[in-house]
Amino acid sequence: MDRPSKTKPWSDIDLNRWRDYDHVLTDSLWLFSSRASGDGHKLDYHGNFIPQIVTQTLTRYTKAGEVVLDVFLGSGTSAIEALNLGRRCIGVELKPDLIEYVRGKLPADRLGTDVHLIVGDSTSQATTDAVRAALTAMGETHAHLLMLHPPYHDIIHFSDRASDLSNAPDTDAFLDMFETVARRGYDLLAPGRFAVLVIGDKYEKGELIPLGFWCMERVNRVGFKTKAIVVKNIEGNERGKGRSNNLWRYRALAGGYYIFKHEYVIIFRKPER
Ligand SMILES: C[S@@+](CC[C@H](N)C(=O)[O-])C[C@H]1O[C@@H](n2cnc3c(N)ncnc32)[C@H](O)[C@@H]1O
Repeated sequence: MDRPSKTKPWSDIDLNRWRDYDHVLTDSLWLFSSRASGDGHKLDYHGNFIPQIVTQTLTRYTKAGEVVLDVFLGSGTSAIEALNLGRRCIGVELKPDLIEYVRGKLPADRLGTDVHLIVGDSTSQATTDAVRAALTAMGETHAHLLMLHPPYHDIIHFSDRASDLSNAPDTDAFLDMFETVARRGYDLLAPGRFAVLVIGDKYEKGELIPLGFWCMERVNRVGFKTKAIVVKNIEGNERGKGRSNNLWRYRALAGGYYIFKHEYVIIFRKPER
């Protein structure tokens, strides 16, 4: 007779069948040979993350039917993958045209029911109110997973809006805006649940700016506990860049630095109480 399943309150993974989950990563180094495509995913937005990040984290940290809150929705990778995995999603994005574009990529009958798309500034109270209204409409009081994939400060310029984190005048201002979003996300997330921060570092005037660690520290300040720092390669994004890779390699050798090949996927948990 089959043993009854043994699950945690925040996952459908049956621990009695733990050997069956080869596809679920548990090591802190994620090496993907290429970006997952199909199932609604396209490389259509400069700055989007690979769907595997969403697949892995939703599989480990949510149950079927639960609500993922992505406060930097971009081109909608989280929303697409949430639906693929039988989850629901609330997505916030500053750029109205992008929200319209994401709307067109999702099945019409799931919009306004299983997926709520909000045009808004994730640092603002008005957006928090709109997320709460969406949660209520979905029959929930809190989200079950918080996804944070902010701009890596000014590495990519996303819009001309002052509330866009990519327009923060300096690193401290960027971190302050990011912390505000993390604090609002903390309040919207159910106790005992997880948050995922996807971020890379940058160089500025010959100095490494460790945005990953500094953002992690800001997420801790609002009350989250760090569970894991995962390093993920970006090999799949680098294809076809042979000539420029050589140029960067020359510059690295000449300048004494290393070329970024990785980003961080940092996992946090909101305490139960
Ligand atoms: C790194 S991208 C996210 C990409 C997304 N994960 C995807 O796969 O397409 C960051 C996004 O945050 C948006 N953004 C920047 N500042 C924001 C703010 N204050 N509120 C909401 N969205 C913001 C940008 O317009 C950009 O689309």
